[in-house]
Amino acid sequence: MGPGDLRSALSGVKQPRRDRRVLVDHTTLDDAGVYAYGRGECLVQTVDFFTPVVDDPYDFGQIAAANALSDVYAMGGRPITSLALLCLPDAGVPPEAVVEILRGGQDKMSEAGASILGGHTVRDPELKFGYAVTGVASRRKLLTNAGARPGDRLFLTKPLGTGVLSTALKQGKLGSATLKRLTRGMATLNRVASEVAVEFGARAATDITGYGLLGHASQLADASGVTLRLRPSVEWLLPRALECARDGIAPGGLAKNRDFYAPKVESGGIASALLDTLFDPQTSGGLLVAVPARRARAFEAALRRRRVWSVAVGEVVGRGERSIVLETGAGGSGARP
Ligand code: CO
Ligand code: CO
Repeated sequence: MGPGDLRSALSGVKQPRRDRRVLVDHTTLDDAGVYAYGRGECLVQTVDFFTPVVDDPYDFGQIAAANALSDVYAMGGRPITSLALLCLPDAGVPPEAVVEILRGGQDKMSEAGASILGGHTVRDPELKFGYAVTGVASRRKLLTNAGARPGDRLFLTKPLGTGVLSTALKQGKLGSATLKRLTRGMATLNRVASEVAVEFGARAATDITGYGLLGHASQLADASGVTLRLRPSVEWLLPRALECARDGIAPGGLAKNRDFYAPKVESGGIASALLDTLFDPQTSGGLLVAVPARRARAFEAALRRRRVWSVAVGEVVGRGERSIVLETGAGGSGARP
């Protein structure tokens, strides 16, 4: 569902009085729901499933699991259990492929230390797969999207461009090396990035998924009551993503994201292809993390030590007119046309 459609659907539903143990729900558009449970602990719950983004069924299973787990990591949680969701057409998906999808998912869940407790399958015209995931977190160390404060430094932990490149793949325009890189990235867990964020006192995080970097960054900015100042660079992108964007390759969701979120963004003089990649819907994208300035260098060094790709993308400033301000060039002063 597009961001606008979802908001109007939810606004049509009358909300019951909120249970005090509900710490985070859909009202702040956060990554997962959080429920206080036990002394200082909480449950973190989320669900995500989608149609195949790659052809290989094992890879698809891995990516679907990594993507579903990601919302728990984006809250600073540790996944403990999951339930599989499988939508299967009457024909066209061989039984061996189903086994491979489940095996890929199982392997990723094992890597995450989460036990699959069961699941549910339905007949559906289109194949879809994913999981509902439950995690636990320490209430004090939760990474909500409302915790960013002026002065915090912002980091991104996976390169952007998965939507553009998956579209190029469907059009037969992707070489095998790029496909391999794309697949590996989407199947990578956000676990280590999340652990390091919690360890270094990060105040806020969100994972970059369907609404693209600028969509999720806007949600974080609005929930925190701040503005994010970002300096976009080609280093933020997967190899070939900018090239494909320049060739006009774009998934359907990109234009929707741009239409909805562009008014929240002061885009300065950013070239249009680069700007497009910032609206590109991501599958199993990285975390956007806000870290207190005095711990930013140590945070970055720890990510490097633990072999997590990362890039510094900007900083948090006091709330201005827009949620996001984009600036060109290193230390640029926000070139306006
Ligand atoms: Co999320
Ligand atoms: Co989600």
